[in-house]
This record gives sequence, C-alpha cells and structure tokens, in this order.
Amino acid sequence: MNLKRIKWQLFNSQISLDNTAKEHILGLAESSIKDRGVFHIVLAGGSTPMNVYSLLKTVKTDWHKWQIYFGDERCLDKDHQNRNSTMVFESWLSHIDMPLQNIYVIPAEEGPIKGAALYNETLSNLGDFDLVLLGLGEDAHTASLFPGHHWDDNLDVLAVFDAPKPPPSRVSLSPARLSRSKAVLFLISGKEKQTAMSQWQSGEAIPASTITCVNGIDIFYFNGN
Ligand code: 6PG
Repeated sequence: MNLKRIKWQLFNSQISLDNTAKEHILGLAESSIKDRGVFHIVLAGGSTPMNVYSLLKTVKTDWHKWQIYFGDERCLDKDHQNRNSTMVFESWLSHIDMPLQNIYVIPAEEGPIKGAALYNETLSNLGDFDLVLLGLGEDAHTASLFPGHHWDDNLDVLAVFDAPKPPPSRVSLSPARLSRSKAVLFLISGKEKQTAMSQWQSGEAIPASTITCVNGIDIFYFNGN
C-alpha cells in the first residue's frame, strides 16, 4: 500500500485511543446505516481492541442494522476462553440487543480447512465490507497472516497452520478479502510493536502492509509509555 494512503495517529494514552476508536467506528456505522441501511464490520482479535468493544456496548445505535464478521479465528472449541469470538462476546456482543443471526463467527472449531471453506461460503454473496478492524503483532502479523507464510490471494478465506502465536491452527481472511472494504482501521498498542511499526513506516514488506483500501488506511497507535 502506498505509504501516503496511510494515516498514522499517535495517542498519548490508551483511553484516548479507545474513545477515539469507538467514535470513529460509530461514525462510520451511522453513515453507512443512513446511506445503505446496514453496516458490515469485520472485527480484530487479540487483546488491544477489547476496551473499544467494551465501550461500544454503551452506545446508542440500531444493533439490528449491524452485521458482524471476524478477520481471523483460532482453531479451538466453540466456547474456548482463548477464542477471538469469546473475547468479543464477553466484552461486547453478549451485552447488547443484537440478533444472533447478525453475527458471523468463523467456525474454527471445525479445523482450518473445513472452517475456512464454511466461512468462504458465508462471505460468498457479500460485497465489500464497510469497516475492517485489524491489530498488529510484534512480528508484524495481522489477522492470522504471519511473516514467512505464503497464501493464495485468489482465496477469500485461508486455512492457517504453524502459526507462531498459539494456537498454531487458525482461519484467516486473506489480504485481498480484508482489503475489500470502504474503510480499514488498525488498533495498535504496546512498545513491543515499535519494530514492526518502523518496518511498516519505512516501506518494508510485512504482512500488515499487504492490506490496502481504496479510501486509505487509518492507524491508531499508542506506544505504551
Ligand atoms: C489474534 C489476532 C492477531 C492480533 C494481533 C495483536 O488472533 O491474535 O487476530 O492478529 O490482532 O496479534 O494482538 P494484541 O492486540 O493482543 O497485541
């Protein structure tokens, strides 16, 4: 992605990042619902977005108009504590009045291959997303796209094996599918992400830099100091 299409916003506290992210997401949701009657959002896993999800449960919006997808999932039992979907339900979705049929969890309990095939079907009739949320790992991975791994960009959903971050088996949307969105927002927090961010800023090819967006990418980061 052309580095000029990336807007980096440095925050001086976690709470200001979280609040700004909440407002940003809500603003996009409201305009999308106003224009098209629906808001298709892809959620990030990991721990960084948890507080933002928690803040979102307090907002006033028509939850029936939101459609929730996931950028990646860990191949663990359905209600496993370490699943991204469990974190999202506990911090946000279990607390609001959103119909369950609006929430498209990746069936990663089926294993990477079947899970990816099933989620591919789920996405097959869906156009571009309205917003994709992503995180960044210390090693510059995003979603479950890890450095040194290769993927077929003709696929929308990938079966991932040997992930260096546990668990090794995962399901991930591909860079091509994550890039089919009207907006992309990375939420990045922690000193340990600094090297990966510098690599990205200097134009090195890292998994996160494979994500593009016609309208540019927003990156909200807090370096943890
Ligand atoms: C996961 C992710 C992953 C995550 C980053 C950042 O399953 O872990 O989806 O891509 O977003 O590793 O994670 P933290 O926010 O915990 O640092």
